[in-house]
Amino acid sequence: MQIHSKLPDVGTTIFTVMSGLATEHNAINLGQGFPDFPMDKKLISLVNAAMEKGFNQYVPMQGYMPLREAIAGKIHFLYNTNIDAHTQVTITPGGTYAIYTALTTVLQPGDEVIIFEPAYDSYIPNVEINGAVPVLISLHAPDYSIDWNEVRKKITSKTKMIMLNSPNNPTGAVLREHDIEQLQDIVSGTNIFILSDEVYEHLIFDNILHQSILRYPDLMERSFVCFSFGKVYHCTGWKLGYCVSSAELMKEFRKVHQFNCFSCNSPTQVALAEFLADKESYLSLSSFMQNKKDYFQQLMSQTKFTPLPSYGSYFQLYQYNNISNENDKEFCIRITKEYGVATIPVSAFYKSATDSKTIRFCFAKKKETLEMAVERLIKIK
Ligand SMILES: Cc1ncc(COP(=O)(O)O)c(C=O)c1O
Repeated sequence: MQIHSKLPDVGTTIFTVMSGLATEHNAINLGQGFPDFPMDKKLISLVNAAMEKGFNQYVPMQGYMPLREAIAGKIHFLYNTNIDAHTQVTITPGGTYAIYTALTTVLQPGDEVIIFEPAYDSYIPNVEINGAVPVLISLHAPDYSIDWNEVRKKITSKTKMIMLNSPNNPTGAVLREHDIEQLQDIVSGTNIFILSDEVYEHLIFDNILHQSILRYPDLMERSFVCFSFGKVYHCTGWKLGYCVSSAELMKEFRKVHQFNCFSCNSPTQVALAEFLADKESYLSLSSFMQNKKDYFQQLMSQTKFTPLPSYGSYFQLYQYNNISNENDKEFCIRITKEYGVATIPVSAFYKSATDSKTIRFCFAKKKETLEMAVERLIKIK
C-alpha cells in the first residue's frame, strides 16, 4: 500500500523524543511540560464520586452543562465578560484539540495564517493539514515581543487568521496592553480571525495582568480562545480543555467537533463543574509557580547557563553559549546522556530549526527534582 503523506516533513515530536531519551538514560526530565507533583486530592475524590454516582455515559456533545456554566461564571469573575454557556463554550479533549478544531473550522486551502516563532509545535502542522499556509514571523531574544509593523507587512488578502499564545510556550513572554491595541488596529474592518491559545492563563508572574482576548468584545467576535484543564489543575494526562468563541463561530466549531470527538470524558467534567467554584485553586497558581521559577533561577545561578526572562507559563529559556558551540539539539541529547538532565532545544519550535543556542527548562517540578537536576547541571563544563 502506498500512502501520500499529508505531513511529509513531520517526524516524532521532540517532546516524545526527549522524554524517551530521559527514560532510556534515567535522566531527570525537565523537558516535557508536565508537573511531577501530585494534583489536588479533592478533585480526584470528586471524579471518583462522579463515577460512583453513575456519570459514566455520554454527556452532551457541547460538554456537561453545569461545567459550561461554571466556566462562564469564571470568565465573568476574571474578565468581566458575559459568555453564554449554551452557545459560546465547548468542552474539548484538551487545548491542542481545541486549537486544531478551530483551525479546521475556518481554514480553506491556500489561506494564510500568521504564526509567531518560536511556536508551540502543533500550530504549523495543524495549519498545513488543512491545506493552509503558515506565514512565519520570528520573535527575537531576549524579550520575544511582537513587532507589529512586521505583522502589518505580512498581511495579505489571503490572511485568514493570526495565532497568539500568551503566556507563551516556550519563551515565557506575555502580551501587554499595547500589543492588544496594535492587534485591534490591525484586524479592525478585516475578516481576519484570531486563535488565542491561553492554556497558561493562570501562570503569569509579577502581578502582570493576563491580557485575555476574552476581555475585549471587539476581538472576541472574531476569536477562538482555547484553554486546558490539564495545565490549570496539574493533570495534563486528563486531556480536557475548552474553547470559547462567539455564538456564530461556535456553531461552526461544533460541526467539526461533533464528528470527531463528539463528547468528552464525563466524570472529569462532572468533577470540574463543582471544583471550579473554588476560586483559590486557580487564583493561587501564579504565586505557586512563581516561587518555583524563582527557586529554580536561584539554583541555576550556580551553573554556566544564562537565563532569559520568563513572565509566565511553566517554562524558562536558558542560553548555553558559555558552555558549548554544539547545536541545541545535539547539546540537549548530550546533556541527557552524559549528565542525566533532559531539556528541549528551542530550534524544535521553528519550522526551519533555527538554532540560537537556547534550551527550554520546565520548572513545574518538586523542589527535590529541581535541586537534583541543578546538582547535575553544575558539573557541565
Ligand atoms: C502553548 C500550548 N498550547 C496547548 C497545549 C496543550 O494543552 P493540552 O494538553 O490540554 O492539549 C500546550 C501543552 O503543552 C501548550 O504548551
